[in-house]
Amino acid sequence: MITELLLYLLIAIIIYHVFEYFRMQFHYDKWGVRYKPGIPLFGNTFCSIFGMRHFIEDMDAVYKAFPNEKYVAFFDGMKPILLIRDPDLMKMITIKDFNHFVNRKPFFPKEIEPLLGSSILSLEGDEWRKMRSRLTVAFSAAKIKGMWPSMRAVSYQLVDYLKDHQSEDIDVADLMRRYNTDVIANTGMGLNVNSLKNPNNEFFTTGAQAVTFTIWRKIYYFFTIQFPVIAKLMQLLGLQLLPPAGTVFFRKVVSDSIAYRKTNNIIRHDFIHILMEISEDWTLDEITGQIYFAFLASYESTTSILSLCIHELALHPEIEEKLYQEVRAHQEKAGELTLEDLSELKYIDCVLSEISRKWSAAVMMDRVCTSGYVLPPPRDGGKGYEVKPGDVIYNVVNPIHMDPKYFSDPEVFDPTRFSEGNKQNIKSFTYMPFGMGPRNCLGMRFAIIKMKVLLYHLVLNYKIVRCEKTSDPIRLQALDFSIRAVGDTYVQFKARS
Ligand code: HEM
Repeated sequence: MITELLLYLLIAIIIYHVFEYFRMQFHYDKWGVRYKPGIPLFGNTFCSIFGMRHFIEDMDAVYKAFPNEKYVAFFDGMKPILLIRDPDLMKMITIKDFNHFVNRKPFFPKEIEPLLGSSILSLEGDEWRKMRSRLTVAFSAAKIKGMWPSMRAVSYQLVDYLKDHQSEDIDVADLMRRYNTDVIANTGMGLNVNSLKNPNNEFFTTGAQAVTFTIWRKIYYFFTIQFPVIAKLMQLLGLQLLPPAGTVFFRKVVSDSIAYRKTNNIIRHDFIHILMEISEDWTLDEITGQIYFAFLASYESTTSILSLCIHELALHPEIEEKLYQEVRAHQEKAGELTLEDLSELKYIDCVLSEISRKWSAAVMMDRVCTSGYVLPPPRDGGKGYEVKPGDVIYNVVNPIHMDPKYFSDPEVFDPTRFSEGNKQNIKSFTYMPFGMGPRNCLGMRFAIIKMKVLLYHLVLNYKIVRCEKTSDPIRLQALDFSIRAVGDTYVQFKARS
């Protein structure tokens, strides 16, 4: 009986969504907004849902299909989305008319992900504004300066570790995840977990579980986001999206740490301390949510960028050599690297900027309309489109970074695009690896410093050499939200004498 009822319910839901799918197409036809029909229920994302290609490639296919449109419709599964392809329009949405587009698409429903649902990524309206203004303090230049010694110390640990692992094929993403875990454990909570020496520490294994999106977890995520009723059902059954061990672990570490510091009057220059200063009226989940999100943001996006940077350097020894000459010259002149020195190292900045263009972890800047707005016509001679509160918009990032209209030979890894002379020619809103406007990446400065300090010490001490397992050319791995090379990134590190 119950099985039959559930089956009828499922059939009714499917019929409703197929009907909605065609109704939306009719709606876009009426407004003159173009689209690729896709497959009912799976929209334009059929291939990425079933692991045949990356989500970015699904989006890119729609982006490329309409070169003359400012925006088109995109079916993310069953959700109709407006895909903004025009840089000037993105500027209006993310900055000039930001007040109409304050929120982000729900990524982690609070019902099933209490910590990440409380993090700044998911907050809306005034709650977000309040949190953003408070957290901005935590990521200020002065606070990051306090964390600098810890970041540098963790980069030394990694350089030290590699001494005994030369001539081995190194799984770079694993190495970078360990680096990022150690940086966030150190700068976030004052813990020196050393994931290289203690490979199975709880911090590292918890993070690894949380970001592993198996095909089943992806399908589960897909249905939870598409049908809010499923999120409610999961809540009733006590189920979470990410492994619950992460929630339990982070709640415990943060509450123990706060209690210990309060009892023993301990002050450390890390996120927990900063959050304790600014969060008198917060619940434990609100504090923990910010730290858990910072951990995941650090863990995955920085890992992707650093891994692909090392991958590209292995494939381009002439670029690595130029980078080495810069860091060696600095070392000879100035000795130990300081935070202030980073701004003088121009080529390292070009290399990281180019990686962030070619292999951007940003994917898109999603925004939800919070008050009615009329978009200009999608093309000359068309009519404006009325966006309603609740409608979702994706401002594309990666397809723009790889559009030859804005970057010639976009597949070529060429850091000189970002040299002092060239970067002023980059059109505004065609390079956005950390997002744009008031809702951009809060951890940008922190992330850039963390990546530069590691790259500096790696290149100074080791030559990055390709090995048999180094894939060339690099292609995007399908089964993930994150940016990773097919076959992963493997290289060897040879000590420089
Ligand atoms: C290379 C590493 C990183 C990249 C490429 C990256 C990129 C991004 C992007 C594209 C967004 C969305 C921006 C938008 O919609 O306009 C974002 C949001 C955010 N990122 Fe990052 N991120 C990185 C590392 C970090 C780190 C290390 C932290 C914290 C420690 C962090 C904290 C945040 C926060 C808090 C938000 C949400 C801001 C808000 O909604 O107000 N990110 N990031």
